Amino acid sequence: MATKYIRNFSIIAHIDHGKSTLADRLLERTGTVSQREMEEQVLDTMDLERERGITIKAQSARLVYDAKDGHQYTLNLIDTPGHVDFNYEVSRSLAACEGALLIVDATQGVEAQTLANVYLALEHDLEIIPIINKIDLPSADPERVRREIEDVIGLDAENAILVSAKTGQGIDDVLEAIVRYIPAPEEAPQKPLRALIFDSHFDAYKGAIANIRIMEGTLRAGQKIRMMATGKEFEVIETGVFLPQMHKVAALECGSVGYLAAGMKNVRDCRVGDTVTTATHSAQTPLPGYRKAVPMVYCGLYPLETNEYDALRDALEKLHLNDAALLFEPETSTALGFGFRCGFLGLLHMDVIRERLEREYGLSLITTAPSVNYHVYCTDGTMVTVDNPSLMPDMSKIERIEEPLVKTSIIVPKDMVGTVMEISQNRRGQYVTMDYLDETRVSLVYNLPLCEILYDYFDTLKSATRGYASVDYALNGYQVSPMVKMDILINGETVDALSVIVHREFAARRGRALVEKLRGLIPRQLFQIPIQAAVGNKIIARENVAALRKDVLAKCYGGDISRKRKLLEKQKAGKKRMKQFGTVEIPQEAFMAVLKVE
Ligand code: GTP
Repeated sequence: MATKYIRNFSIIAHIDHGKSTLADRLLERTGTVSQREMEEQVLDTMDLERERGITIKAQSARLVYDAKDGHQYTLNLIDTPGHVDFNYEVSRSLAACEGALLIVDATQGVEAQTLANVYLALEHDLEIIPIINKIDLPSADPERVRREIEDVIGLDAENAILVSAKTGQGIDDVLEAIVRYIPAPEEAPQKPLRALIFDSHFDAYKGAIANIRIMEGTLRAGQKIRMMATGKEFEVIETGVFLPQMHKVAALECGSVGYLAAGMKNVRDCRVGDTVTTATHSAQTPLPGYRKAVPMVYCGLYPLETNEYDALRDALEKLHLNDAALLFEPETSTALGFGFRCGFLGLLHMDVIRERLEREYGLSLITTAPSVNYHVYCTDGTMVTVDNPSLMPDMSKIERIEEPLVKTSIIVPKDMVGTVMEISQNRRGQYVTMDYLDETRVSLVYNLPLCEILYDYFDTLKSATRGYASVDYALNGYQVSPMVKMDILINGETVDALSVIVHREFAARRGRALVEKLRGLIPRQLFQIPIQAAVGNKIIARENVAALRKDVLAKCYGGDISRKRKLLEKQKAGKKRMKQFGTVEIPQEAFMAVLKVE
């Protein structure tokens, strides 16, 4: 097919504004997926995605559309992940397109991720088609939203398409607009091959599959290719397109979107953002923008039962096959035994992996509180990165510590500005700017330490603003901060997995709150258990778990064995998710308690 009949586009939106629903309608209307096959939201395939209602892994589809001009067009829809943790993947997906449909919910208006996504699309010079969705709802106010798109984003929204992705109203207009306004890909079939990898996944039969957009040249099965960032070479076994399921084709022409399989054993062989070229007559330079995914949040994952260690390693390896951003390495803790230190792109990524390990692999895990990556400059002139608090060098050897910052944009109704400011300032946020979006809503920008965001920032913000706050964040460099390691001692011994890194000025307050919380979480024993927080050798807080006066069986005078057994059963069930530490048992909640203290 000639390049002039190809259109490559993404759909961008704030979470829940209707991206997946609109994608479904486009698939249905072009007959790509028949109504019968149409399970709700075909493009979100993972169970977890469906439950949480957010796109985690992007999927693409090729639609064939007979336009009103009498020509048949190939429309390649490149779905983008719908969460800030995956911003880099979003930017690669956008780099594979010439245009984007910008969806704004007619009842909500422009939100934080609407803006973040528009900025990404503009960086890639995409043609943006504004779409106002959910016009079927009684509270829809398309005119207000139209003004907002013009005033806040600065896009001409006069021709914004009014749509109900739910009922299908306006879908034909969307298809026509794609053909009319989004430019065709540039023609460069004679140039050496340059294809952009914008996503990848692991297929049990074909190995790692790279989703690619051919920017220049042509790709055929049988060709020898080279990945320009890693230098690895492979022979192409299969090329194909997404219908949205994989469908083999002989070649992928310039401008088209599809996949390649080349017997790659791991998704790290075809990294998102890398450029594919041919092994001979190669392109001179890769496409711009390659970046290795860098984990921002780390935590320890330990099997509850020591004999599940191998199963945990196998499960992590399997997930890793499909997820180049997930890092893990063995780690040992005196409190928790053998486990793994894992790195994630963000909090959602961490939650998703943890849930998949438990659900899909049936593992019971103890998770330590998440930590960020600190740059620790030592007095001997070296720099170490520390993502595990218990591995922080001795304070006497540290010259300074730098912590990661994130630029956080928050959109809220104007009467909630004070609340947002208070919450952000309590977490050491530095105010950057405030802008009025319209008469009622305000956009605030704060520079916050990433580690403070881990302390329930989003949830606190959401509940304090009754769900009105919409948030977006991006990594924004490092700053020197007086951070200290705070240890927790239980029964006089340091529990390494409970150590945290905190700002010096917060240590006393958080230490007190934490030991108080732990006192309520740690089961009572026959003896008193002291719980202490310490910075260096100095104890900064202390509480006691009082001794148990009676044991559970004391009530069973006489010898009613069945009742006795029942009580013991109950006690055993209560032991779930506990780790034995010396004579004391520590429940899972204790490891997360630190995140819940102000
Ligand atoms: P992410 O995948 O998290 O980015 O969300 P999304 O933008 O894909 O949103 P999704 O399509 O899942 O829609 C969110 C909710 O809005 C769902 O409950 C949809 O059924 C509903 N919805 C989407 N479009 C419409 C619409 O036109 N009208 C109405 N009434 N509801 C809609």
